[in-house]
Amino acid sequence: MIPEPAPTVRELLAFYLEAGVDCALAEEPIDRLAEMDAPPPVPRAAAPVEAPRPAAAPTVIRGEAAPAPDVAIASAREAARTAPTLEALRELMQGFEGCALKHTATRLVFADGNPQARIMFVGEAPGRDEDIEGLPFVGRSGKLLDLMIGAIGLNRTTAYIANVIPWRPPGNRTPTPQETQVCLPFIQRQIELVNPDVLVTLGNPSTQTLLGTREGIMRTRGRWFDYETGARTIRALPTFHPAYLLRSPSYKRLAWQDLRAIAKVLAAA
Ligand code: URA
Repeated sequence: MIPEPAPTVRELLAFYLEAGVDCALAEEPIDRLAEMDAPPPVPRAAAPVEAPRPAAAPTVIRGEAAPAPDVAIASAREAARTAPTLEALRELMQGFEGCALKHTATRLVFADGNPQARIMFVGEAPGRDEDIEGLPFVGRSGKLLDLMIGAIGLNRTTAYIANVIPWRPPGNRTPTPQETQVCLPFIQRQIELVNPDVLVTLGNPSTQTLLGTREGIMRTRGRWFDYETGARTIRALPTFHPAYLLRSPSYKRLAWQDLRAIAKVLAAA
């Protein structure tokens, strides 16, 4: 049998790209298989003392095997609930080990904008540009989001922007329902702490996750919902995700209607 010729570098890169590997995570490759053979991590008690975290996730601990999904969800809920401030929440999420996306992402993408803003926009998950910069909506769709919010006289100093999922899914794949459920308590707490007058959910995943509806964005966009934080009811409006508007510019007209409705409610509140 004639052996297959070794693939060229170009063919290998094309293979990786198709598999969703579109950026390098580190300068040097990491042999994950060798890591699996390595001796188990030093027990936590013997490790050097770390600076205290504002509220440690109770059962999901650094260095331990990935927890079962229900444990991770319960742990995220408990941890998020105890974060007294946005800074504490960010710290807590940096140390949270219950979501596997954290290990493939470059960094946490927590938020951008003004925590005192009266309006908060929530997207689905960071993409490649956001993963590199550590800020939400900085790529192509972010540029369009800036134009959209600029159209009603707002910008990143007067609005707050975050995502349901704070770590980039590899290759921009859709987050699994389980990943979404693990991350949900964090964005819920983030909304509660920002406490905006208006919450704008961008696209289907964010709308369905945060507003608990199964209807599609074509039906939900432009319709006001009540978002309950437990302490307060916030007015919430779904609109199209800017990435969708880049693909389907004819819907910008409807998005413009949504933005005008938002401006009207902000002016009246
Ligand atoms: N799409 C999102 O939903 N969020 C981002 O931060 C970027 C793109």
